Amino acid sequence: MSNTDTPALIEPDPTLAAGELGPTGRPLPDLPEPTAPDPGKPRRALIIAMCNQKGGVGKTTTTINLGAALAETGRKVLLVDFDPQGSLSVGLGVNPHTLETSIYDLLLNKHTVAEDVITHTVVNGLDLLPSNIDLSAAEVQLVSEVAREQTLRRVLTKVRHNYDIILIDCAPSLGLLTVNALTAADKVLMPLECEFFALRGIALLTDTIDKVQDRLNPELETLGILGTMYDARTLHSREVLERVVQAFGDTVFHTVIRRTIKFPETTVAGEPITTYAPSSPGAAAYRMLAREVLARCPGA
Ligand SMILES: Nc1ncnc2c1ncn2[C@@H]1O[C@H](COP(=O)(O)OP(=O)(O)OP(=O)(O)O)[C@@H](O)[C@H]1O
Ligand SMILES: [Mg+2]
Repeated sequence: MSNTDTPALIEPDPTLAAGELGPTGRPLPDLPEPTAPDPGKPRRALIIAMCNQKGGVGKTTTTINLGAALAETGRKVLLVDFDPQGSLSVGLGVNPHTLETSIYDLLLNKHTVAEDVITHTVVNGLDLLPSNIDLSAAEVQLVSEVAREQTLRRVLTKVRHNYDIILIDCAPSLGLLTVNALTAADKVLMPLECEFFALRGIALLTDTIDKVQDRLNPELETLGILGTMYDARTLHSREVLERVVQAFGDTVFHTVIRRTIKFPETTVAGEPITTYAPSSPGAAAYRMLAREVLARCPGA
C-alpha cells in the first residue's frame, strides 16, 4: 500500500472554516475568539497536567506552545517543569545545570518560596517553574514523606492566586511524580502521537487517572486527547487518528498538531513557536488548541 499519495485535504489546515470537515473527520466547531479574563475577578488558576507515560509524544512541546498561546489571550500562565530531564526549561531558554533553585527545593525544602524559583520567560505573561536532574532524587525522597502524593498540590496552592492557568509538564512515567501532578490538577490533557502503537499504554494511563480520581483527587477530569506528530503525507497518520476518534469520540480535540521540523527548531531557539514563527501553521494550530481548551473550560 502506498503511503505517500493522500490528498492535501487531510492536512490540518488552520484556514478551514467552522462546519468543514477537520483532520479528525468531524465538522469543525465555531469557536469564539478568546477574550481576556475580567481583571476585577480574583484569580484561581485552572491546573492542567500534560500526561502520557510514553516518551516523545509532544508533552513538553504542547506545554510550551499551548502555554504561550494562552498567554497571548491575556491570561497569566505558569508552566511547571515536572520532569527531571528539564526539557521544558531548556525549551524556554533556561539551562537546567546552572539553576540555583528549582522545583526540587520547593517540594522538599520548606524554607524555599515559589517566588524565588519562578522565572519570567521571553513571552509576556508566561512564567516558568524550572526543574533539573535533582527532581529525580525528589521522587525517591518523597516516598518517606507524609501525604507524599499531595506535595506538588501544596506548592501550587500557594501560587494559584497569581495565575489564570497552570500547565504541568509530566515525565514519561506513571511514578510518584506523575501521581503528584494528577493529584494537583483539575484536568488532564493527553498528547497522543499519530503512529501505530499510540493506543498501547493508554489503558494503563486511564487506569492511573481512575485510581487518582478514586483515592486522591475526585475532582480530576480528562480535558482531552490531542493528536500530535500528524504526518499529512501518510495514510497511516489518518488511520491512527480515525481509530483514536472511534475509541474516544469527542474527547479528542479537533486540533491536530502536524509533524514539522519547526518544533525541534524552537527548542534550539529556546522559545515557543508563537514567537519563533508566529505565522506558521504550527503556531496557528496551538492557538486553535488554546481556543478549544478555553471552550472546554468556561471561566478559565
Ligand atoms: N509536531 C511535531 N513535529 C515534529 N517534531 C516534534 C513535534 N512535536 C514535538 N516534536 C519533537 O519531538 C521530540 C519529542 O517531543 P517532546 O519533547 O515535546 O515530547 P515529550 O512527550 O515531552 O517527550 P518526553 O516523554 O521525553 O518528555 C522533540 O525533539 C520535539 O522537538
Ligand atoms: Mg517532555
